[in-house]
Amino acid sequence: MKILITAGPTREPLDPVRYLSNRSSGKMGYALASAATALGHEVTLISGPVLLTAPENALTHRVETAQEMFDAVGAAAKHQDIAIFAAAVADYRPKLIHDQKIKKHSNTLTLELERTPDILGSMRSTFQFTGYLVGFAAETENLIENALDKLHRKSCDLIIANDVSRRDAGFDSDENEVILCFPSGQTEPIPHQSKQTLAHDLVQRIVKLATEKIPS
Ligand code: PMT
Repeated sequence: MKILITAGPTREPLDPVRYLSNRSSGKMGYALASAATALGHEVTLISGPVLLTAPENALTHRVETAQEMFDAVGAAAKHQDIAIFAAAVADYRPKLIHDQKIKKHSNTLTLELERTPDILGSMRSTFQFTGYLVGFAAETENLIENALDKLHRKSCDLIIANDVSRRDAGFDSDENEVILCFPSGQTEPIPHQSKQTLAHDLVQRIVKLATEKIPS
């Protein structure tokens, strides 16, 4: 199958030397890409800036900003059977990008931010993606409720919810613990484990679910 995977953070520039970003290491997305290539799938990996080596057999596009990730996903989306969004895309970016380094003229500095494009939310409506659509939800409270809300708003087939308030899972950890959330409202917890073994299990489950949804 053809599988598109997003991974890592995005960086939203403020001036030539500063940016807004988050703690995503890319480990979850890269583990998914490795598992999918190892299982013989054709993987397109769209990656934000991370310190990881991409799997040899994946077609990898490196991007910096949410807008660049949006453009790269848009170019690849139509040809995919499955799309898995593990990237932690910045929701806001500075409205103004300064040409020169901002100087310390005052004791406080107010930044005006604007929304970035919602890449996952554009898959069905803008990119006409008809395959099996999987999002992640990174939550610090009301995990399942917020995940199911995202699932419906973004027309996903599955949301993989992770509690990112924990230190032993989620952002920048080698391990993760997730709950699968389905459109029916049904949920299934997956035990705490390494991102590698979790990714292997997730790819196998997602391929099976996609095959049931889109019979060849
Ligand atoms: O990279 P690691 O250090 O291994 O950490 C893994 C992870 C915690 C980042 C990963 O497991 C994870 O939860 N990724 C999603 C993080 C996130 O941004 O969640 P969200 O709830 O804000 O977004 C919901 C979904 O919409 C996500 O699939 C996200 O990729 C997508 N999104 C969000 C905003 C946006 N502008 N465009 C998007 O596509």
